[in-house]
Amino acid sequence: MSDLRAKYLTAIAGAKDEAALEALRVQALGKKGEISLAMRELGRMSAEERQQAGPRLNALKDEINAALTARKQALTDAALDERLRGEWLDVTLPARPRRQGTIHPVSQVTEEVTAIFADMGFAVAEGPQIESDWYNFDALNIPGHHPARAEMDTFYTHRAEGDDRPPHVLRTHTSPVQIRAMQAQGAPLRVIAPGRVYRADYDQTHTPMFHQVEGLAIDRDISMANLKWVLEEFVKAFFEVDHVDLRFRASHFPFTEPSAEVDIRCSWDGGTLKVGEGDDWLEILGSGMVHPKVLEAGNIDPNEWQGFAFGMGIDRIAMLKYGIPDLRAFFESDLRWLRHYGFAALDVPTLHGGLSR
Ligand code: PHE
Repeated sequence: MSDLRAKYLTAIAGAKDEAALEALRVQALGKKGEISLAMRELGRMSAEERQQAGPRLNALKDEINAALTARKQALTDAALDERLRGEWLDVTLPARPRRQGTIHPVSQVTEEVTAIFADMGFAVAEGPQIESDWYNFDALNIPGHHPARAEMDTFYTHRAEGDDRPPHVLRTHTSPVQIRAMQAQGAPLRVIAPGRVYRADYDQTHTPMFHQVEGLAIDRDISMANLKWVLEEFVKAFFEVDHVDLRFRASHFPFTEPSAEVDIRCSWDGGTLKVGEGDDWLEILGSGMVHPKVLEAGNIDPNEWQGFAFGMGIDRIAMLKYGIPDLRAFFESDLRWLRHYGFAALDVPTLHGGLSR
């Protein structure tokens, strides 16, 4: 019996894999295995012999089982060790240097504008870029025959043949968000709505897609004086100067009454655009007191509430602040341009940290 023990324990210790272990198990403990056969012999022994051999055989069976289990665990551990060694990574190595992306000036300026108006209590509102003609025009007091529809060089979407509903438009301004914000939040209200707008126009200061930020303040007692103060505070904070020349020109928009357009003093000397000096003016926004019909379209009672609104060109003020002469370059994705005018990813504008560095 000690022969059997030595034979199996040695073989098990040397087994190379699970298949070899299984073969040994069958050879020793399977139905016709050596140990099983020896146990069957017990029946033919005398009671005395059996009392000796029985416990020894049982013990040997347990010992072989334990050896099989232990060897199997050892093989599994070794396989895991080897895998881990193959997948080892030196996490103390320095990171691979990567080309840095930059924040586009439009994104940067949008953040700056949002920070300034947030400080004055304006929340951010949003609306879709593909808009119904009701929100983009009718609700803003621009009926179907109104010349403003043609003036805006609107992009229309297609309707299927036989579908008579009016087509959707690519919103020509952020003003439809005024209506959506009024409907969703009611009065009083103080929101800005930055976003993309679209018009079929293309030259040094116009691109078919550009960015506006809408402003809307509604309360019981709001006047043009509030509008003027808010815009002047904004412009001083944005350009980080104590004084900027603004020109309020009487104007006309169907959705405001009275209306004013605002220009900012600038110069184009030597092809660079500078704000606050020179004899040129660049129009940066349209504004006015919200028309009663527009309040009504937003489900707000014009007898109880009034407000001001403005729509400002984000790209325009970005050009002015950062001296970028041609608007078209904003959207050409030229890497040299982006590296030159882009902002570092961690350069997040805050009022306390300084808007731009
Ligand atoms: N929506 C106008 C435009 O796109 C700007 C504007 C907004 C004017 C709000 C007055 C009030 O030109």
